[in-house]
Amino acid sequence: MSVNFIGYIGFNNTSEIHGVRKRVLDRTYVVDALRAQEEGGFDRVLIPFGSNSPESQIVAAYGAALTTRLGFLVAHRPGFTQPTLAARQLATLDQLSQGRVAVHIITGGADEEMARDGDIGTTKAERYARSDEYLAILRQEWSAKTPFDHDGKFYHIRQASSAIHPENLPVFFGGTSAEAIDVAGRHADVYATWGETLDATREIVARVRASAARHGRQIGFSLSLRPVIADTEEAAWKRADEIVERVRARREDAGLPTSGHRPPNDGSRRLLETASSTRRDARLWTGVAQLTGAAGNSTGLVGTPEQVADALLEYHRIGIGNFLIRGFDPLADAIAYGRDLIPLVREKVAASGDLAAAS
Ligand SMILES: Cc1cc2nc3c(=O)[nH]c(=O)nc-3n(C[C@H](O)[C@H](O)[C@H](O)COP(=O)(O)O)c2cc1C
Repeated sequence: MSVNFIGYIGFNNTSEIHGVRKRVLDRTYVVDALRAQEEGGFDRVLIPFGSNSPESQIVAAYGAALTTRLGFLVAHRPGFTQPTLAARQLATLDQLSQGRVAVHIITGGADEEMARDGDIGTTKAERYARSDEYLAILRQEWSAKTPFDHDGKFYHIRQASSAIHPENLPVFFGGTSAEAIDVAGRHADVYATWGETLDATREIVARVRASAARHGRQIGFSLSLRPVIADTEEAAWKRADEIVERVRARREDAGLPTSGHRPPNDGSRRLLETASSTRRDARLWTGVAQLTGAAGNSTGLVGTPEQVADALLEYHRIGIGNFLIRGFDPLADAIAYGRDLIPLVREKVAASGDLAAAS
């Protein structure tokens, strides 16, 4: 199995160590981060989406014009654009970027997050049922050779027909609730999740594979992590501790809680269980997840590049073919991952592939 690295374009060069997340658009950072991750050997970059953020598809279109090889993973939330139109928007991006686009379907864990864009009163279960129907229409608009009608619970369409079809546009899907795993099994090419222990990851990989098998499908996996690397293990853990203290100070300055979190989504609840102790397995670190309530990609692997590469290889062995990695100094860490970590993991995967082939 190959290994792919997915970076991140978080619109500006800040993270939890700099204060409350600000999704302001810093064009210079976006250009530098695109170039650094293309030169650093990343395969793709995730462009996130939120109800207060710049628009992910537009940032991807801008990025595709500035790069030649780098792929884009565009976070997209069903429920705000008609699926036939979203299908053509993504197909347009796919063709203009010459097949470098994938879409990451995020259904939205928090009601107030959805309400900010006018989706008021839908339950999370209803949102996943809508994503299910939305993805069926998206794929039909991408592939139908003749006009089609659709009458479902959420969408009604007459004689839809697109003149633009993507070459190969992978669908990634996030969410760990039972509804999410059901929809992912039916539609996703890659299931994306956050960094839990090896055992917990093995468990969710098995559940998602079983969900896909119920539809006669194969599915790939993506795991999100925040690697903290340094020349020595001691220096890496020292850096991790410094990150925790900076995040704690920023949250206290902003009057934000640093404990007692009750996140609305399953993914964060699972990650908080993982964060029952600060270090899990050999080097899984949960310090920031504990403080922030595990709001998204918030656990990491700590050590030298060699040690972190070996830990990533453990996840690769249980089926993780994509690693979505970002640091706490977004640009500097992306450059360090491209220089010190990605080449090492690729070498180790190639060597383990040769070993497996030889055995
Ligand atoms: C890799 C990954 C990236 C995500 N990116 C976003 C994002 O950009 N914006 C967002 O609102 N939610 C994002 N999510 C959150 C999920 O899509 C989902 O809404 C959330 O996990 C709630 O689902 P659950 O309760 O089923 O776990 C992401 C999740 C994963 C695993």
